[in-house]
Amino acid sequence: MVDVRWPRGPKREMTAANKNQPCSGDGPVRACQNGPLSGVVSAPGDKSISQRAIIFGALSIGITAIRGLLEGEDVMRTAAAMRALGAAVERDGEIWQVTGARWRSPEKALFFGNSGTGVRLVMGAVAGAGVAASFDGDQSLRSRPMGRVLEPLRMMGVNADDTGGRLPVRIGKNDGLVAINVKLATPSAQVKSAILLAALRANGMTRIHEPILCRDHTERMLVAFGVKLQTESDGAEGRFIEIGGGQDLSACDVTVPGDPSSAAFVIAAAVMTPNSDVTVKNVLINPLRAGFYETLREMGADISFENRREQNGEPVADIRARHSLLSGVEVPAIRAPSMIDEYPILSVVASVANGETLMSGLEELRVKESDRLAAIEAGLVACGVDVASGEDWLRIRGGGAAPKGGARVKTHHDHRIAMSFLVMGGACEKPVEIDDASMIATSFPGFLSLMTSLGAALETP
Ligand code: S3P
Repeated sequence: MVDVRWPRGPKREMTAANKNQPCSGDGPVRACQNGPLSGVVSAPGDKSISQRAIIFGALSIGITAIRGLLEGEDVMRTAAAMRALGAAVERDGEIWQVTGARWRSPEKALFFGNSGTGVRLVMGAVAGAGVAASFDGDQSLRSRPMGRVLEPLRMMGVNADDTGGRLPVRIGKNDGLVAINVKLATPSAQVKSAILLAALRANGMTRIHEPILCRDHTERMLVAFGVKLQTESDGAEGRFIEIGGGQDLSACDVTVPGDPSSAAFVIAAAVMTPNSDVTVKNVLINPLRAGFYETLREMGADISFENRREQNGEPVADIRARHSLLSGVEVPAIRAPSMIDEYPILSVVASVANGETLMSGLEELRVKESDRLAAIEAGLVACGVDVASGEDWLRIRGGGAAPKGGARVKTHHDHRIAMSFLVMGGACEKPVEIDDASMIATSFPGFLSLMTSLGAALETP
């Protein structure tokens, strides 16, 4: 059995930890070279859509039923914040029910843990609701820029105190906001969404110019919740979004599709591992989230979108991936917003491909849950990969074979770095160990057992 699973590497000794026992994931985890991966699995619910469903439900009149919600830590923090603001959020079997309410000012600071989406969207919603609230997060979230959200909110008349553009932040009560005409300085769906949520209650028509398109789940879901907004091309790459103030949301049932950013780890592992054939069912394939899959195809990956359908105004499909011989490619900067969370795993894929992969337009990676550009580079160097980087680019030269591996990688408490290097370990000659897997639960609870069920060799060191 073991030899069948290990066609490319040395025979591995069975230990208590690797006898197909999913490791707990509370501390370090080691990934050894994979045998073929096979099976049909479902990805956890999309994080962006789950966050929005909870927030929009809490703002609505009526009860919103959510199926397929991601029960990750980030979403649970947002749910707790909604309760503190007056909404009821409870699980009833497989369904999460959110009962909207007129928001009240919470006594204690709203704590968002690691969640940038939660904190930034709720700042906009709190401003629109005309209540006061304080916002805080963990060490990583405290280091991330909040000025990008506070600046447009201040233009609308929001009274906010920050800590050098960072958390903790306090938003004061306001007696009404004014509509603005604003051009997004960074292609950020979180900033765009915060403005849209505040604009819902502003006086007049807010117009947002988005010169580079980024994920549009807020726009799609607001329409499903009965809000009127218009979009119009700007004649180049971007578009204008117009939303009138004084609109209420009406509760609406939501079915959350699988997260393409989580499915990316599973698909990448299948594509890199000989004789693998894996299907991830029911994955969101919104074009503004599908850049990773487009890039994989350009690299020569055998992946297909099967059983395409529409769910709650979002396109979904089952994604099938088989092992493929991959070549390096140039990834255009314009594609960055549609795969912004997938660069860590793409970098792992690039290190087994044949030739050079050049990625540019990556400045936003510096301000994610960690400085992802630095974390990717350090991890790849430790695994023996030929990599170079600049302020906003990364170049990886793959040798078309398994990288050396044999490293302990620092995750910097970043879930996507952790999962990427566990997938890396599956493709390397020697095991790769990560310092901590606990943070994976922010976006992909069950990652370790799902990968193990497909045949991945993960163990507790
Ligand atoms: C998200 C937007 C992206 C992404 C994040 C989720 C969202 O961040 O990286 O994981 O749900 O709106 P930015 O808007 O800062 O690019």
